[in-house]
Amino acid sequence: MFNYFRKSEPEIRSESGDWISLPEPAHDGQTSIENALLKRQSIRQYAPDPLTLAEVSQLLWAAQGINRPGGYRTAPSAGALYPVELYLVSGQVDQLPSGVYRYHPENHSLEQLMLGDFRRELSQAALNQESVQDAAAVILISAIYQRTTGKYGDRGIQYVHMEVGSAAENVYLQAVSLNLGTVFIGAFNDDQVKSLLNLDVQEQPLCLLPVGKIAP
Ligand SMILES: Cc1cc2nc3c(=O)[nH]c(=O)nc-3n(C[C@H](O)[C@H](O)[C@H](O)COP(=O)(O)O)c2cc1C
Repeated sequence: MFNYFRKSEPEIRSESGDWISLPEPAHDGQTSIENALLKRQSIRQYAPDPLTLAEVSQLLWAAQGINRPGGYRTAPSAGALYPVELYLVSGQVDQLPSGVYRYHPENHSLEQLMLGDFRRELSQAALNQESVQDAAAVILISAIYQRTTGKYGDRGIQYVHMEVGSAAENVYLQAVSLNLGTVFIGAFNDDQVKSLLNLDVQEQPLCLLPVGKIAP
């Protein structure tokens, strides 16, 4: 029987600051899935307004939240091994100090890792892409390959990349539904992002998703 709690898997760092319980995500909305698909596009310029904690909660839940008993998530995962980790690099989010937070799907909460505004340095690590600096917050999708390659060998590498794509698309569609803009950023210096966010050596950053209100 497969162990869903990954007790024997490598642990990511667990030094912690404060924990923030996120508002319950909504399970219904005003936008149909067809309309969200119709409107999905990459948006790189944002209004200078903050995001609400409810919006952040909804985006993170869309990406990797638990959606049914058994710990299963909104995005599929090969063997339900869940190699994907999410971080929020917060700059302007109501009720959330600027900083770096790790999302914990199991209790839909954020673990505060670092305080301070890291958007500018993150943008520099992403070839100075302005969308990263200008967004109210940036979601980082990283992965611990070993969770999946431990079972599937090298083929697991592909599986991990597919899973990051699923999570990112969920964020895009949820952003449309919330009238927010986002863009998939794949062009960045891995080592710089790892060092800036103090990622574990076995953890690979794979996608940045700046998010902000859509500029009028
Ligand atoms: C794997 C991947 C990497 C990407 N990297 C970047 C990037 O670094 N910067 C950026 O502005 N857009 C990036 N994009 C977004 C694409 O440029 C965008 O999806 C494409 O131009 C099509 O536009 P649309 O998303 O509005 O349909 C990336 C998209 C994907 C799927």
